Amino acid sequence: MRIYLAIATAALALSACRVDPELPPGGKTSAYQPTPVDPSDIFPEKFGMPALPADNPFTEEGINLGRMLFYDPILSIDSSVSCASCHVQQVAFGDPSTFSTGVFGLQTGRNAPSLFNLAYSRKFFWDARQNTLRELVFEPIQAHNEMAMTLPLLQQKLKASPVYKEAFNKAFQHEPNVMDMAKAMEQFLLSMVSQNSKFNAFFPGKFSILSEEEKRGAILFNSLVDFDKITGITLGADCFHCHGGALAQQQNPNMGGISNNGLDPVITDKGYGAITGNSNDLGTFKTPSLLNIALTAPYMHDGRFQTLEEVVDHYSDGIEYDNPTISPMLSAHGGRQLNLSAQQKSDLVAFLKTMTDTTFINNPAYSNPF
Ligand code: HEC
Ligand code: HEC
Repeated sequence: MRIYLAIATAALALSACRVDPELPPGGKTSAYQPTPVDPSDIFPEKFGMPALPADNPFTEEGINLGRMLFYDPILSIDSSVSCASCHVQQVAFGDPSTFSTGVFGLQTGRNAPSLFNLAYSRKFFWDARQNTLRELVFEPIQAHNEMAMTLPLLQQKLKASPVYKEAFNKAFQHEPNVMDMAKAMEQFLLSMVSQNSKFNAFFPGKFSILSEEEKRGAILFNSLVDFDKITGITLGADCFHCHGGALAQQQNPNMGGISNNGLDPVITDKGYGAITGNSNDLGTFKTPSLLNIALTAPYMHDGRFQTLEEVVDHYSDGIEYDNPTISPMLSAHGGRQLNLSAQQKSDLVAFLKTMTDTTFINNPAYSNPF
């Protein structure tokens, strides 16, 4: 796995060098005027306005081209795999398989994460190795076990397609080229917003819309870890430090946005530590959003848990306190497991299930355009 990553990164660096000099092309070659899209029509007030790439403003034509590319197996070497092969809308653009299958039946080394509200993230992939979506897309396209494509060949294929000739002309007033391809995909990925779950209607405090068990789950989720002095009963499970806010995801890496949630006694996958080379980052991973979490099993970077009940069992009874880089937010429990009762566990699961946004998974704007 680690070797594969090193090779993939090296391949990416090489191929980026190879392609850069010829691209992007010079001045515009057509006078087509694309239709601008106002970011405030994409991002809801409750999430705030994310920082957006200034050199890639949203247009209807750009987003539409990005969506076509996302669903098109033309991006893979044998035209068998698209981004959507591993990122499936019905499960919030995650993959129900533990590891995803790319070209030639090869498998990925980690579980495919769900995709939404990416405009609010500054780091991408489980090990947070990418900082922009525009650069990120070149990774799956070229990875030998995902799409195994070469950029010159892809550019050639896109240029030869009358459909893409027209779509690139409309979006960027150019012939198809891989730099504009990446910008179109960046626009589409940034435009994917999930905001209509019951949780998002509740957050931060409209308790009246929650059922009794969801309310109890919400309180456990949003309260600091504490134990009743007399009975010893757990009063809070503190999920919100790392999965809090309307996005159900801490964005600040230093506040839990990249962390070690105590899965293993020893570090196996180095995670973010392999990227930074800093021993404090070993075994830490990007903290995922919990929106749509009931749809995106299996869970964790290696898909080790099949159900939300298993996840809650982990946080209740299975935290590995001996792990050297365990998050200080978890080690603050002083090595004591939460020992949630059966009812507390099911309350927490009930609350997690309020985070499903069925509008998002059925939104035609993100569906297969072909
Ligand atoms: C063969 C399966 C596969 C294909 C094809 C694939 N992905 Fe992924 N994707 C994954 C896996 C696995 C990860 C997690 C990898 C990691 O973190 O090391 C991932 C991670 C991502 C992430 C990071 C999300 C986050 O929250 O950090 C984005 C964005 C993404 N993929 C977009 C794409 C796009 C766009 C394409 C098409 C160009 C694509 N993927 C093709 C399997 C795939
Ligand atoms: C210290 C930060 C932190 C705290 C506190 C925390 N988590 Fe997590 N959570 C993470 C990280 C990091 C991951 C991903 C770990 C990995 O895959 O290696 C994760 C993964 C998950 C996942 C799987 C997500 C997916 O897409 O696979 C769920 C579900 C989850 N946490 C629920 C909870 C619940 C419920 C609580 C409270 C009991 C909680 N978390 C507390 C950091 C935290």
